[in-house]
Amino acid sequence: MSETIKYGIIGTGVMGQEHIQNINLIENAEVVAVCDTNESSRNQAKSLVRESTKFYNDLNELISKNIADAYIIATPNFTHINVLEQILKTNKHLLIEKPLCTTTEDCKKFELLSKDYSKIIWTGMEYRYMPPVTQLINEVHNHVIGKIKMLSIREHRFPFLNKVDDWNRFIINTGGTLVEKCCHFFDLMRLVIQSEPIKVYASGSQDVNHLEEKYDGKTPDIIDNAYVIVDFENGVRGMLDLCMFAENSEYQEEIVAIGDIGKIETFVPSNASGKDSSEVRIGLRKDNVNKSKEVKVDKDILAAGHHHGSTYFEHLAFINAIQKNKKPEVSLRDGLMSVAIGEAAENSIVENRVVFMKEFNL
Ligand SMILES: NC(=O)c1ccc[n+]([C@@H]2O[C@H](COP(=O)([O-])OP(=O)(O)OC[C@H]3O[C@@H](n4cnc5c(N)ncnc54)[C@H](O)[C@@H]3O)[C@@H](O)[C@H]2O)c1
Repeated sequence: MSETIKYGIIGTGVMGQEHIQNINLIENAEVVAVCDTNESSRNQAKSLVRESTKFYNDLNELISKNIADAYIIATPNFTHINVLEQILKTNKHLLIEKPLCTTTEDCKKFELLSKDYSKIIWTGMEYRYMPPVTQLINEVHNHVIGKIKMLSIREHRFPFLNKVDDWNRFIINTGGTLVEKCCHFFDLMRLVIQSEPIKVYASGSQDVNHLEEKYDGKTPDIIDNAYVIVDFENGVRGMLDLCMFAENSEYQEEIVAIGDIGKIETFVPSNASGKDSSEVRIGLRKDNVNKSKEVKVDKDILAAGHHHGSTYFEHLAFINAIQKNKKPEVSLRDGLMSVAIGEAAENSIVENRVVFMKEFNL
């Protein structure tokens, strides 16, 4: 392996370009190849990479050239399973954008197919790497609030953006909002709580967004708001509060963990707020202890994406794992579980019932 990690980017729409911009900030990393089936996406990527970067419109051609050490898969969710089946031929390190696949069944299929894969397979759960969120995770794991009992995650944001061919408007392409978007939050719940989910209850619907849009005569079917409750094996409960018609919220994510001796909370600023720093606050029940820490993110890192610096820190961790021959910090199982909780929540809404995780035979 060369010292500089040579990346191949598969899919250079919104997220593929964010990966390129962040890789460009890392000294020992370089994008050597790009593959996208869409000419406009390839052209947008051309303005972000060196002249020597090779461009392909066919995945098999990219694979046959064998010039990268690691591949990023950033194609639409419904394409992941096919791209993954093909990319396993490379035996190179893989970072797969979330959600791993649109269904738990496909995630299980991929897990089985890749069981003997010897290189890193990393699911892109980058919210773990947002600096204020990382800080909260560390404080909880250091028992600053005692034994965690409750975790609530609120995301209030803008509607889904337009994507190439607007694939993200239908459940069949995305897995549904609670898979597509909220797998991040279910991953955070498992990570912070350090336990597996038992049951999921959700209430949600499509009340405001995309109702006037038509694609081949069909109206989008993705929900835009929900409450989801997840019960974990260790007795901790998690709650997600999602609203996707809340542009101009001061904070896009607000995360609160409460333990038997105290509470920790963090607030991730929305892009609309223009803030480059966030706050992590700890309040202990005894002796009126209140601490607050400001978490700042470098402006170049913030400017390289839409995820409060997390893509940059995710790449540092990915590269570190490659160079030090370590296990992925975000495993295939983590990716699979985050999809399964999202699917359970989607099912809970449609079927109006509690969904038990054992139904997925995980
Ligand atoms: N981590 C995050 O927070 C985050 C944020 C946004 C998107 N994503 C994920 O990234 C992935 C891409 O989303 P996006 O927003 O960039 O979508 P997008 O539509 O902007 O880009 C997808 C690109 O993939 C290309 N493509 C489609 N099929 C292909 C194939 N077989 N081979 C090569 N290229 C192909 C399309 O032409 C397009 O350019 C999705 O899985 C999405 O869920 C993750």
